[in-house]
Amino acid sequence: MGDFADYARKDFDKKNVVASANNEEADVQFNVEDAKAFSAEDTVATTTGTDTSAPVVTTSSTPVTLGRGLDVGTANLVSSFQDNSGNVNLKIQRNAFIDIDCDDYTRNMLTRLGVQYVVVNGRMVVVGDPAFELANIFNRNTRRPMKEGMISPDEADALPIEKMLLETLLEKPKQPGEICYYSVPAEPIDADMNVVYHQGVFGGLLKGLGYEPKPLVEGHAVVFSELAQDDFTGIGISCGGGMFNVCVSYKSIPALSFSTSRGGDWIDRNVASVLGCSASRACGLKEKGIDLTNPQGREEEAVEIYYRNLISYTLKNIKERFESSSSMPSFPEPISIVCAGGTSMIGGFTEVFQQEFEKIQFPIAVKEIRLAEDPLYSVSKGCLVAALSESV
Ligand SMILES: Nc1ncnc2c1ncn2[C@@H]1O[C@H](COP(=O)(O)OP(=O)(O)OP(=O)(O)O)[C@@H](O)[C@H]1O
Ligand SMILES: [Mg+2]
Repeated sequence: MGDFADYARKDFDKKNVVASANNEEADVQFNVEDAKAFSAEDTVATTTGTDTSAPVVTTSSTPVTLGRGLDVGTANLVSSFQDNSGNVNLKIQRNAFIDIDCDDYTRNMLTRLGVQYVVVNGRMVVVGDPAFELANIFNRNTRRPMKEGMISPDEADALPIEKMLLETLLEKPKQPGEICYYSVPAEPIDADMNVVYHQGVFGGLLKGLGYEPKPLVEGHAVVFSELAQDDFTGIGISCGGGMFNVCVSYKSIPALSFSTSRGGDWIDRNVASVLGCSASRACGLKEKGIDLTNPQGREEEAVEIYYRNLISYTLKNIKERFESSSSMPSFPEPISIVCAGGTSMIGGFTEVFQQEFEKIQFPIAVKEIRLAEDPLYSVSKGCLVAALSESV
C-alpha cells in the first residue's frame, strides 16, 4: 500500500500523482489537501481523445504513468490511464457480445466490414460495440455478461467474454503488477445478491492479465473524481444501467455506501411493459434526447414517470439509511450531491432530482445537486485517481 506522506515528501511537485490509498479493502482514503490537485476540473481539462461516439479512443504515444482505472459496468466497460503529460486517456466498450453461425458468407461479411471475431465452440463471437451494430443487422439482441451490476448467473459464456473485453480495453500492464483499481457495486439493499463472487471474478481476470487488482466501491469512485473541491465530502451517486450506487463520504471516508438494483435497464423494462414494446426499443426512446421536464406524448411521459420514481426511490433510501445508522458523521457545512453514470445524462435529470429532493425532508443540508463533468467516465476516473496514488 502506498503512503501518501512518503510520496508527498519524495516528489510533491509532480501534479500527476496526488492522492494516496491506505487501506487493504475497497475503501481508499485520500490526503484531502493534495488530492485536490487532481480535481475533476483538472482531469477534464487535460483529458484527450475522449469521444463518446468512438467505441475505443486511441491512446497517445506519450509514455504512460503507472496505474489504471477500470469501471466494470453492466452496460459499459471503461478503462483509463494517464500519460506522462498528465492527460487522462479513456476507452469505452459496450459490455455485450453476439454469437453468429460460422459459415463462409458471414465470415466474409465480417472480414469485409473489418469486424474482429473469435471462433468459440464452432460459432463466431463478436464482442463490444461491433456486437451492438451486428445485432441490428441481424435483428437480434446482444447477449450481456453482466446483469444488475454483477456477473450474470444466466450467461454461461460471461467469463471468457469479459476476459476478451478486458484484454482489448486494458492491454498489457506497463510493468508486471501494475495497479488497476476496478469498480464494484456496494452491497445491494433490495436484492439478494452477493458482491463477493463478482469482485473475485474480476480480480482474477485482472490478475490473469498481469495487473494487481484492487476493488473500489462505485459510489466512492464518483466521490474521488467529482468532489475534490469539497474535500471529498458529499454524496456521489453512480446512475448506471443495472443499478444505482450511492456513497455518502466525509473527508474521503465513506460513511454510507449501498446500491439498489434499479437503473437504466429497470426504466427500459418498465417503459417497455406499459407501452407494449421491446426493452431495446424503450431504451432507444429514452436515449434519443428526451427532456424530462417537458415530456412529449405518451411514450416520453412513461419514461418521465419511471425516472421520477427511480430518483425518489434513491433519495428515500439514502434518507432511511442515514437516519437508521448510529454512526453517521455530522456535516458542518451543506454538502453537494453529484450524479454520474449514463442514466443521469437524460435532459432535465437534475431538475427532476431537485423536485423530488424538495418533496422529502432530507436529513443533510445540501448546497447543490449537479451532474458529473463527464458522467460516463466519472467512475473510471475515480478508479484512476486511486491507482495513481499508489503507483509512485
Ligand atoms: N443520453 C442518455 N439518456 C438516458 N440514458 C442514457 C443515455 N446514455 C446512456 N444512457 C443509459 O445509461 C445506462 C448505462 O450507463 P453506465 O454506462 O453508467 O452504466 P454501467 O456503469 O455500465 O452500469 P452499472 O453501473 O449499473 O453496472 C444505460 O441504461 C443507458 O441506456
Ligand atoms: Mg456503473
